[in-house]
Amino acid sequence: MADNEASPNPVEDDVVDPWNVVSKSVKGVDYDKLIKRFGSQKIEVALLERMEMLTGKPPHHLLKRGVFFSQRDLSQVLDLYEKGKPFFLYTGRGPSSEAMHLGHLIPFIITKYLQDTFNVPLVIQLTDDEKFLWKDLTVEEAHRLAYENAKDIIALGFDVNKTFIFSDIDYIGSSSAFYMNMLRIQRCVTYNQVKGIFGFGDSDCIGKISFPAIQAAPSFSSSFPHIFGGRKDIPCLIPCAIDQDPYFRMTRDVAPRLGYPKPALIHSQFFPALQGAQTKMSASDPNSSIFLTDSDKQVKTKINKYAYSGGGSSVEEHRKTGGNCDVDIAYQYLTFFLEDDEKLQQLKQDYSSGKLLTGELKKVLIEILQPLIKQHKERRAAVTDETVKEYMTPRKLAFDY
Ligand code: TYM
Repeated sequence: MADNEASPNPVEDDVVDPWNVVSKSVKGVDYDKLIKRFGSQKIEVALLERMEMLTGKPPHHLLKRGVFFSQRDLSQVLDLYEKGKPFFLYTGRGPSSEAMHLGHLIPFIITKYLQDTFNVPLVIQLTDDEKFLWKDLTVEEAHRLAYENAKDIIALGFDVNKTFIFSDIDYIGSSSAFYMNMLRIQRCVTYNQVKGIFGFGDSDCIGKISFPAIQAAPSFSSSFPHIFGGRKDIPCLIPCAIDQDPYFRMTRDVAPRLGYPKPALIHSQFFPALQGAQTKMSASDPNSSIFLTDSDKQVKTKINKYAYSGGGSSVEEHRKTGGNCDVDIAYQYLTFFLEDDEKLQQLKQDYSSGKLLTGELKKVLIEILQPLIKQHKERRAAVTDETVKEYMTPRKLAFDY
C-alpha cells in the first residue's frame, strides 16, 4: 500500500490517530492489523540482526521485545550507515502540560539509544504552536511549557554537542530556511488531503489545518542550515509512537515532489493506561497516568489502586488458573521498563502459573518505577536554565556531512 493510502478509521477498527487511541479489546490495539492499515512494515528479527552486526551493539530491549514493532525504510538507513553516509534523528513532543508521563519517555529512550549507537545528530521539535491551537492554553503558556518539557528531555542525557531542541514559536520566527520548507510543504497538500489524513472538519480553525506542514518540516535537512550547511539530501530517521504516523505519511508523500529524501520511521506500541490496554496512557486523564513528577507514594497508590489486573478474582482462583499477562497492566509495564530478560521471563512464568499474586507482581513494578522516577527528578533538577539555552540555541553540531 502506498504511504498516502491510509483510510480514516473505520468504526469496527481500533481508533489510532494523533489525538485518540481506543481499542475494543482488553489486549489493546491489534498492531498487526494496524501495520496493514497504515501500510508500514514489521520490524523483523533479521533487520535487528543486521543492525547488531553493523553497530556491534545488541538491540535495545524495546526493539527486541517488539515494543518498537513497525518501520518505514529502516533498512535504507542501515544501508547509509554501512556506507558511512550521514543521516540524522528527528523526534518531538507537544508540550501540553508541565509533567510528562511514562509513556512519553518511550520514544525518547529509544532515540537516546539510537544517538549513542549511530553517533548522529538529533533534532527535537517542541510543538508549542500545536498545543496552543489544540488545547485551552495561552500562547505564552504553551511556550513556557516547551521550556519546562525541554528540561525533562535534557535529563535523559542527550549529547549536547549533537542535539538541537527547538520551540516552534522561537525557531519558526527566526529561521527563513524552516519557514521556506513549511511553505513548500503547504503548497503540496490540499485541504481535501488533510481532511482525509487527519479528519479535520469545516469548524476546525485554519491553524490546525496548516499545522501538519510544521511537523513535517524538520524531516528535511535543509530546515536546519546551521547543522547541515544548507544540504537538502541528508535523510532522517524518526522514532515515535504510531499515533504520529499520519504526519509522516503526508511528509513521505510530499518529499519526492520537493526533491527531498523521504523520512524513515520506527514506530512504537502505546504504553497503556493504568486502567487497561484499550487506551494509551494520556496526560489528559491524570488517573490513567504515572507522571515523572509523581512521588513514591503516588506511584505506589496509583499502581495498587488502578493498574488493571489479569489475575484471578480470588487468591484461590488465581492459584488455580493463574494470571493473564496479555491483559495485566503491571506485567505490560514491566515489559517496557524491566531490562533483565531472564527476570521478566521468570515473572511471566510465575504469574501465569498462579505462583505469583497480583499484589506481588505490582510490588516488583513499584520497586522499579519509584527509583526510576526519583532519578529522573534528580537529573531534571540539575538541568539549569543555562543548559536549556545551550541545547536550544541554533548552532553547529559535531557532525561530518
Ligand atoms: P506528544 O507530546 O503527544 O508525544 C510525544 C511522543 O510520545 C509518544 N507517546 C507515547 N508513546 C508511547 N506510549 C504512550 N502512551 C504515548 N503517548 C505519547 C508520541 O507518539 C510522541 O512520539 N505532535 C507531537 C510532537 C511532535 C513529534 C514530532 C512527535 C512533533 N514532531 C516528531 C514524534 C516525532 C506530539 O504532540 O507528541
